[in-house]
Amino acid sequence: MQQLSGRVAVITGAGSGIGLAMAHCFAGEGMKLVLADIEEAALARAVADLRAAGATVASMQADVGDPAQVAALADLAWQTYGAVHLLCNNAGVASPALPTRAWESTLADWDWILRVNLMGVLHGVRAFVPRMLEGGDEGHVVNTASVAGLLTGANPYHVSKNAVTCLSEGLYKDLRTLGAKVSASVLCPGLIRTRIMDAERNRPAALGRTQLGAMREDLQRWEVGFRQALEAGWDPARVAEAVRDAVKADRFYIVPAQDSLHALIRTRMTDIIEGRNPTLAPRG
Ligand SMILES: NC(=O)c1ccc[n+]([C@@H]2O[C@H](COP(=O)([O-])OP(=O)(O)OC[C@H]3O[C@@H](n4cnc5c(N)ncnc54)[C@H](O)[C@@H]3O)[C@@H](O)[C@H]2O)c1
Repeated sequence: MQQLSGRVAVITGAGSGIGLAMAHCFAGEGMKLVLADIEEAALARAVADLRAAGATVASMQADVGDPAQVAALADLAWQTYGAVHLLCNNAGVASPALPTRAWESTLADWDWILRVNLMGVLHGVRAFVPRMLEGGDEGHVVNTASVAGLLTGANPYHVSKNAVTCLSEGLYKDLRTLGAKVSASVLCPGLIRTRIMDAERNRPAALGRTQLGAMREDLQRWEVGFRQALEAGWDPARVAEAVRDAVKADRFYIVPAQDSLHALIRTRMTDIIEGRNPTLAPRG
Protein backbone atom coordinates (compact mmCIF):
# COMPACT_ATOMS: atom_id res chain seq x y z
CA MET A 1 0.00 0.00 0.00
CA GLN A 2 2.08 2.84 -1.29
CA GLN A 3 -0.27 5.68 -0.45
CA LEU A 4 -0.68 6.28 3.28
CA SER A 5 -1.76 9.92 3.29
CA GLY A 6 -5.48 10.41 4.03
CA ARG A 7 -5.91 6.75 4.94
CA VAL A 8 -6.85 5.25 8.32
CA ALA A 9 -4.53 3.39 10.70
CA VAL A 10 -5.66 1.47 13.80
CA ILE A 11 -2.98 0.73 16.39
CA THR A 12 -3.35 -1.28 19.60
CA GLY A 13 -0.95 -0.76 22.48
CA ALA A 14 -0.55 2.80 21.21
CA GLY A 15 0.06 4.39 24.62
CA SER A 16 3.73 3.46 24.83
CA GLY A 17 6.80 2.18 23.05
CA ILE A 18 6.52 0.77 19.54
CA GLY A 19 2.77 1.44 19.22
CA LEU A 20 3.23 5.07 20.19
CA ALA A 21 6.13 5.45 17.76
CA MET A 22 4.02 3.96 14.96
CA ALA A 23 1.23 6.44 15.78
CA HIS A 24 3.65 9.38 15.41
CA CYS A 25 5.20 7.93 12.27
CA PHE A 26 1.85 7.29 10.52
CA ALA A 27 0.51 10.68 11.60
CA GLY A 28 3.62 12.16 9.98
CA GLU A 29 2.59 10.36 6.77
CA GLY A 30 -0.79 12.11 6.92
CA MET A 31 -2.80 9.11 8.14
CA LYS A 32 -5.88 9.41 10.36
CA LEU A 33 -5.51 7.38 13.55
CA VAL A 34 -7.60 5.14 15.77
CA LEU A 35 -5.62 4.32 18.89
CA ALA A 36 -6.32 1.77 21.62
CA ASP A 37 -4.61 0.84 24.84
CA ILE A 38 -5.59 -0.76 28.12
CA GLU A 39 -3.83 2.01 30.06
CA GLU A 40 -6.18 5.00 29.98
CA ALA A 41 -3.80 7.71 31.19
CA ALA A 42 -1.01 6.74 28.77
CA LEU A 43 -3.50 6.64 25.91
CA ALA A 44 -4.89 10.07 26.82
CA ARG A 45 -1.36 11.52 26.87
CA ALA A 46 -0.57 9.98 23.48
CA VAL A 47 -3.77 11.39 21.96
CA ALA A 48 -3.13 14.87 23.38
CA ASP A 49 0.46 14.93 22.07
CA LEU A 50 -0.58 13.74 18.62
CA ARG A 51 -3.42 16.25 18.38
CA ALA A 52 -1.08 19.02 19.48
CA ALA A 53 1.15 18.00 16.57
CA GLY A 54 -1.83 18.34 14.20
CA ALA A 55 -2.90 14.70 13.89
CA THR A 56 -6.51 13.50 13.46
CA VAL A 57 -7.06 10.95 16.22
CA ALA A 58 -9.90 8.84 17.64
CA SER A 59 -9.23 6.58 20.60
CA MET A 60 -10.72 3.97 22.87
CA GLN A 61 -9.52 2.33 26.04
CA ALA A 62 -9.63 -1.37 25.15
CA ASP A 63 -8.23 -4.67 26.35
CA VAL A 64 -7.25 -6.65 23.25
CA GLY A 65 -7.75 -9.87 25.20
CA ASP A 66 -11.50 -9.24 25.19
CA PRO A 67 -13.09 -9.91 21.76
CA ALA A 68 -16.07 -7.66 22.56
CA GLN A 69 -13.76 -4.69 23.22
CA VAL A 70 -11.85 -5.31 19.99
CA ALA A 71 -15.14 -5.51 18.08
CA ALA A 72 -16.15 -2.17 19.68
CA LEU A 73 -12.84 -0.70 18.52
CA ALA A 74 -13.64 -1.78 14.96
CA ASP A 75 -17.10 -0.19 15.25
CA LEU A 76 -15.51 3.06 16.44
CA ALA A 77 -13.09 3.07 13.48
CA TRP A 78 -15.78 2.52 10.85
CA GLN A 79 -18.23 4.93 12.51
CA THR A 80 -15.56 7.64 12.68
CA TYR A 81 -13.83 7.28 9.32
CA GLY A 82 -15.87 4.77 7.28
CA ALA A 83 -12.82 2.64 6.47
CA VAL A 84 -9.68 1.05 7.90
CA HIS A 85 -6.57 0.66 5.73
CA LEU A 86 -3.80 -0.24 8.16
CA LEU A 87 -4.32 -2.43 11.23
CA CYS A 88 -1.44 -2.81 13.69
CA ASN A 89 -2.15 -5.58 16.19
CA ASN A 90 0.69 -4.45 18.43
CA ALA A 91 -0.35 -4.63 22.10
CA GLY A 92 1.76 -7.15 23.97
CA VAL A 93 3.09 -8.11 27.38
CA ALA A 94 6.04 -10.01 28.82
CA SER A 95 6.85 -11.41 32.21
CA PRO A 96 9.96 -10.01 33.90
CA ALA A 97 11.03 -13.64 34.32
CA LEU A 98 10.91 -14.36 30.62
CA PRO A 99 13.30 -17.31 30.10
CA THR A 100 11.66 -19.70 32.55
CA ARG A 101 11.94 -23.45 31.98
CA ALA A 102 8.97 -25.31 30.46
CA TRP A 103 7.62 -26.39 33.84
CA GLU A 104 8.28 -23.15 35.77
CA SER A 105 5.85 -20.49 34.52
CA THR A 106 2.57 -20.51 36.41
CA LEU A 107 -0.64 -21.26 34.56
CA ALA A 108 -1.63 -17.66 35.35
CA ASP A 109 1.48 -16.48 33.45
CA TRP A 110 0.47 -18.63 30.46
CA ASP A 111 -3.14 -17.36 30.62
CA TRP A 112 -2.17 -13.70 30.75
CA ILE A 113 0.52 -13.69 28.10
CA LEU A 114 -1.28 -15.92 25.58
CA ARG A 115 -4.51 -13.98 26.11
CA VAL A 116 -2.89 -10.65 25.22
CA ASN A 117 -0.12 -11.60 22.78
CA LEU A 118 -1.85 -14.32 20.77
CA MET A 119 -5.60 -13.94 21.30
CA GLY A 120 -5.30 -10.14 21.12
CA VAL A 121 -3.88 -10.45 17.60
CA LEU A 122 -6.47 -13.06 16.63
CA HIS A 123 -9.33 -10.87 17.89
CA GLY A 124 -7.95 -8.01 15.78
CA VAL A 125 -7.81 -10.18 12.67
CA ARG A 126 -11.34 -11.49 13.22
CA ALA A 127 -12.88 -8.08 13.98
CA PHE A 128 -11.18 -6.09 11.22
CA VAL A 129 -10.08 -8.21 8.25
CA PRO A 130 -13.54 -9.25 6.96
CA ARG A 131 -14.65 -5.60 7.05
CA MET A 132 -11.44 -4.42 5.40
CA LEU A 133 -12.03 -6.97 2.62
CA GLU A 134 -15.69 -5.92 2.24
CA GLY A 135 -14.62 -2.28 1.95
CA GLY A 136 -12.72 -3.20 -1.23
CA ASP A 137 -9.90 -0.69 -0.59
CA GLU A 138 -6.20 -1.47 -0.40
CA GLY A 139 -5.13 -2.41 3.09
CA HIS A 140 -2.45 -3.95 5.27
CA VAL A 141 -2.33 -5.81 8.58
CA VAL A 142 0.84 -5.71 10.71
CA ASN A 143 0.96 -8.18 13.58
CA THR A 144 3.65 -7.53 16.19
CA ALA A 145 5.50 -10.73 17.09
CA SER A 146 9.16 -10.43 18.07
CA VAL A 147 12.53 -11.97 17.29
CA ALA A 148 11.23 -14.33 19.99
CA GLY A 149 8.67 -15.38 17.37
CA LEU A 150 11.51 -16.68 15.18
CA LEU A 151 13.49 -18.26 18.03
CA THR A 152 12.31 -20.77 20.63
CA GLY A 153 11.90 -21.13 24.37
CA ALA A 154 9.40 -23.06 26.49
CA ASN A 155 7.99 -19.93 28.11
CA PRO A 156 4.71 -18.10 27.41
CA TYR A 157 6.37 -15.17 25.61
CA HIS A 158 8.30 -17.22 23.03
CA VAL A 159 5.35 -19.56 22.51
CA SER A 160 2.90 -16.67 22.05
CA LYS A 161 5.19 -14.88 19.61
CA ASN A 162 5.87 -18.05 17.54
CA ALA A 163 2.10 -18.43 17.31
CA VAL A 164 1.77 -14.84 16.04
CA THR A 165 4.39 -15.53 13.36
CA CYS A 166 2.50 -18.66 12.30
CA LEU A 167 -0.88 -16.91 12.32
CA SER A 168 0.52 -14.01 10.31
CA GLU A 169 2.16 -16.20 7.64
CA GLY A 170 -1.12 -18.05 7.28
CA LEU A 171 -3.04 -14.78 7.03
CA TYR A 172 -0.66 -13.52 4.33
CA LYS A 173 -1.11 -16.73 2.31
CA ASP A 174 -4.92 -16.63 2.70
CA LEU A 175 -5.05 -13.03 1.47
CA ARG A 176 -2.75 -13.72 -1.50
CA THR A 177 -4.70 -16.84 -2.44
CA LEU A 178 -7.89 -14.78 -2.46
CA GLY A 179 -6.26 -12.12 -4.64
CA ALA A 180 -7.26 -9.56 -1.98
CA LYS A 181 -6.11 -5.95 -2.00
CA VAL A 182 -5.33 -6.36 1.71
CA SER A 183 -1.89 -7.72 2.60
CA ALA A 184 -0.11 -8.64 5.82
CA SER A 185 3.24 -8.48 7.59
CA VAL A 186 4.73 -9.83 10.77
CA LEU A 187 6.84 -7.44 12.84
CA CYS A 188 9.73 -9.09 14.71
CA PRO A 189 11.69 -6.41 16.57
CA GLY A 190 14.92 -7.07 18.44
CA LEU A 191 15.93 -5.16 21.56
CA ILE A 192 13.95 -1.92 21.62
CA ARG A 193 13.93 0.75 24.33
CA THR A 194 10.32 0.55 25.66
CA ARG A 195 8.41 -0.31 28.86
CA ILE A 196 7.84 -3.98 27.92
CA MET A 197 9.72 -5.23 31.01
CA ASP A 198 7.22 -3.32 33.16
CA ALA A 199 4.28 -4.97 31.40
CA GLU A 200 2.96 -6.33 34.68
CA ARG A 201 1.60 -2.83 35.30
CA ASN A 202 -1.34 -3.96 33.11
CA ARG A 203 -1.71 -7.50 34.46
CA PRO A 204 -5.21 -8.27 35.81
CA ALA A 205 -5.02 -8.52 39.59
CA ALA A 206 -6.84 -11.86 39.51
CA LEU A 207 -3.82 -13.42 37.75
CA GLY A 208 -1.36 -12.37 40.46
CA ARG A 209 2.21 -11.32 39.70
CA THR A 210 5.31 -13.17 38.57
CA GLN A 211 7.02 -14.21 41.80
CA LEU A 212 10.50 -13.17 40.73
CA GLY A 213 11.77 -12.88 44.31
CA ALA A 214 11.18 -16.58 44.80
CA MET A 215 12.83 -17.45 41.51
CA ARG A 216 16.30 -18.74 40.87
CA GLU A 217 19.17 -16.32 41.11
CA ASP A 218 20.08 -16.79 37.43
CA LEU A 219 16.63 -15.50 36.44
CA GLN A 220 17.11 -12.44 38.61
CA ARG A 221 20.51 -11.82 37.00
CA TRP A 222 18.91 -12.33 33.60
CA GLU A 223 16.28 -9.69 34.37
CA VAL A 224 18.92 -7.11 35.34
CA GLY A 225 20.94 -7.84 32.18
CA PHE A 226 17.90 -7.79 29.92
CA ARG A 227 16.70 -4.45 31.30
CA GLN A 228 20.17 -3.03 30.55
CA ALA A 229 20.09 -4.50 27.03
CA LEU A 230 16.69 -2.92 26.35
CA GLU A 231 17.87 0.39 27.77
CA ALA A 232 20.77 0.27 25.30
CA GLY A 233 18.42 -0.95 22.56
CA TRP A 234 17.10 0.81 19.50
CA ASP A 235 14.71 3.73 19.57
CA PRO A 236 11.12 2.61 18.80
CA ALA A 237 10.99 5.25 16.04
CA ARG A 238 13.41 3.08 14.06
CA VAL A 239 10.95 0.17 14.26
CA ALA A 240 8.07 2.42 13.19
CA GLU A 241 10.03 3.56 10.12
CA ALA A 242 10.78 -0.07 9.22
CA VAL A 243 7.05 -0.83 9.44
CA ARG A 244 6.14 2.16 7.28
CA ASP A 245 8.66 1.15 4.61
CA ALA A 246 7.55 -2.50 4.67
CA VAL A 247 3.87 -1.58 4.30
CA LYS A 248 4.69 0.62 1.31
CA ALA A 249 6.83 -2.12 -0.27
CA ASP A 250 4.46 -4.99 0.74
CA ARG A 251 7.25 -6.82 2.58
CA PHE A 252 6.04 -9.61 4.88
CA TYR A 253 8.93 -10.16 7.29
CA ILE A 254 9.88 -6.99 9.18
CA VAL A 255 12.86 -7.78 11.40
CA PRO A 256 14.41 -4.59 12.79
CA ALA A 257 16.89 -6.35 15.04
CA GLN A 258 20.52 -6.33 16.09
CA ASP A 259 23.01 -8.45 14.08
CA SER A 260 23.56 -10.82 17.03
CA LEU A 261 19.83 -11.69 16.93
CA HIS A 262 19.86 -12.24 13.17
CA ALA A 263 22.71 -14.71 13.80
CA LEU A 264 20.56 -16.65 16.29
CA ILE A 265 17.71 -16.83 13.76
CA ARG A 266 20.12 -18.12 11.10
CA THR A 267 21.44 -20.78 13.48
CA ARG A 268 17.94 -21.99 14.32
CA MET A 269 16.86 -22.18 10.66
CA THR A 270 20.09 -24.00 9.77
CA ASP A 271 19.53 -26.50 12.61
CA ILE A 272 16.16 -27.36 11.07
CA ILE A 273 17.34 -27.56 7.47
CA GLU A 274 20.46 -29.61 8.24
CA GLY A 275 18.69 -31.92 10.69
CA ARG A 276 20.86 -30.85 13.65
CA ASN A 277 19.48 -30.87 17.17
CA PRO A 278 18.76 -27.35 18.50
CA THR A 279 21.94 -25.36 19.15
CA LEU A 280 22.11 -24.25 22.77
CA ALA A 281 22.14 -20.47 23.01
CA PRO A 282 22.72 -18.53 26.21
CA ARG A 283 19.37 -18.52 28.06
CA GLY A 284 17.48 -15.41 27.11
N1 LIG B 1 10.60 -3.73 23.34
C1 LIG B 1 11.12 -4.73 22.69
O1 LIG B 1 12.34 -4.94 22.72
C2 LIG B 1 10.23 -5.64 21.89
C3 LIG B 1 10.85 -6.62 21.10
C4 LIG B 1 10.07 -7.47 20.35
C5 LIG B 1 8.68 -7.35 20.35
N2 LIG B 1 8.10 -6.40 21.13
C6 LIG B 1 6.63 -6.32 21.09
O2 LIG B 1 6.25 -5.00 20.76
C7 LIG B 1 4.90 -4.79 21.19
C8 LIG B 1 4.83 -3.44 21.89
O3 LIG B 1 5.54 -3.53 23.11
P1 LIG B 1 6.55 -2.38 23.59
O4 LIG B 1 7.89 -2.97 23.60
O5 LIG B 1 6.29 -1.13 22.87
O6 LIG B 1 6.11 -2.28 25.16
P2 LIG B 1 5.36 -1.14 25.97
O7 LIG B 1 5.03 -1.79 27.28
O8 LIG B 1 6.15 0.10 25.97
O9 LIG B 1 4.02 -0.91 25.13
C9 LIG B 1 2.99 -1.90 25.10
C10 LIG B 1 1.63 -1.21 25.17
O10 LIG B 1 0.61 -2.24 25.13
C11 LIG B 1 -0.39 -1.90 26.10
N3 LIG B 1 -1.11 -3.11 26.51
C12 LIG B 1 -0.70 -4.08 27.37
N4 LIG B 1 -1.65 -4.98 27.54
C13 LIG B 1 -2.72 -4.59 26.78
C14 LIG B 1 -4.00 -5.11 26.53
N5 LIG B 1 -4.42 -6.24 27.13
N6 LIG B 1 -4.82 -4.46 25.69
C15 LIG B 1 -4.42 -3.30 25.10
N7 LIG B 1 -3.22 -2.74 25.30
C16 LIG B 1 -2.38 -3.39 26.12
C17 LIG B 1 0.40 -1.26 27.23
O11 LIG B 1 -0.42 -0.49 28.08
C18 LIG B 1 1.44 -0.45 26.48
O12 LIG B 1 0.97 0.87 26.23
C19 LIG B 1 4.55 -5.99 22.08
O13 LIG B 1 3.76 -6.90 21.35
C20 LIG B 1 5.92 -6.59 22.40
O14 LIG B 1 5.83 -7.96 22.71
C21 LIG B 1 8.84 -5.55 21.90
